[in-house]
Amino acid sequence: MRDALAALRHRWMQAGPACPGGEAALAEHARWLDPRLAQGQLQALHRGDGTLAAAVLVCHEPEEPFYRAPVTHLVAHHDGSPEGLSWLAAALARTVPGLPDDVECLVPAADAATLRMLTGLGLGPTTVLLAGRVGPARAALQARWRPPADLRHLGLELSPAEPQDADEIVDLLRRVFGAEPAYAWFMASEARLAHRREELARGRGSAMCLLVHDGPRLVGLLEAGLRPDDPHYGPSVGVGLVLDASVRRRDIAPVAYHHALALAEEHGAAWLKGATARRAVLHMAEVMGRQPVAVHVRRTPCFRDGRFDACLGAVARAGPLTT
Ligand SMILES: CC(C)(COP(=O)(O)OP(=O)(O)OC[C@H]1O[C@@H](n2cnc3c(N)ncnc32)[C@H](O)[C@@H]1OP(=O)(O)O)[C@@H](O)C(=O)NCCC(=O)NCCS
Repeated sequence: MRDALAALRHRWMQAGPACPGGEAALAEHARWLDPRLAQGQLQALHRGDGTLAAAVLVCHEPEEPFYRAPVTHLVAHHDGSPEGLSWLAAALARTVPGLPDDVECLVPAADAATLRMLTGLGLGPTTVLLAGRVGPARAALQARWRPPADLRHLGLELSPAEPQDADEIVDLLRRVFGAEPAYAWFMASEARLAHRREELARGRGSAMCLLVHDGPRLVGLLEAGLRPDDPHYGPSVGVGLVLDASVRRRDIAPVAYHHALALAEEHGAAWLKGATARRAVLHMAEVMGRQPVAVHVRRTPCFRDGRFDACLGAVARAGPLTT
């Protein structure tokens, strides 16, 4: 069962334009599913020949390691066949209304049908995972923004973070994410902040960790993390941006991407990936050629204002996976 479900998940992810897939990716899907299948509740539709046509898995995780918060994982896949689709619609209609508010489902961007089923049941996209190649992203960034290397033109100082900055960084994260909990809902929790503080104080933060100061005041954190052995992409880079409201809309994000993409090229990372709900990041992703890979769907928080429609529409129009 595990391998069949992993294969279905992998097929759908790969059906999008920005997920190379492969043996390591398939193995990673199986590794992720393994304990959740062991602990969760599975419903599945098999064909007469034993192949998997659709499945729904629900598994509660008391502390998801990335979020450092409880999550009820919902895994929902179908094989694109009419019987797989109609079984999945019925299974989700039976299951989703009874799930707690911390339910979260990762829907491949190419699977517009499952996304429609879940939004029809009161869930919605909370972030979109976007990926793109570093080389073209860098070229597009330079062509559009020509970002400078520092922020002196704005009267701001850019400097590398040191372990002793940990408390100030955590205060910034608490302030920024606490003020807008719809975005990155998990970022301002004290459990996650304590973990971040510990990492930063031990000097074990991201590969790139730059601070933005307005005089003595910390107003921004520009991070990039390298993942040399990303099973889904090979070497990849992820970018984290946090700006105080007082310094937004000044084209600081392009400066951050300039440094992050230089780091990626220096370390041979071919892919830029990350999840967002921020309109600025969605806009920049479009310019830099990043494409949607998957959608994180939740009951709360989620965005029902159509902000993801443009980027998801192109993938959905490419058509459904065929059996
Ligand atoms: C995400 C964040 C860093 C973006 O920074 P910003 O200062 O708003 O954006 P910038 O001024 O650097 O703008 C970059 C581009 O996005 C555009 N942009 C900014 N806000 C936008 C919006 N609301 N809608 C559409 N485009 C927007 C800018 O116009 C610019 O593009 P352009 O030069 O082609 O016009 C900032 O909003 C932030 O720190 N938010 C809080 C922390 C957070 O949520 N981080 C998670 C990010 S995934």
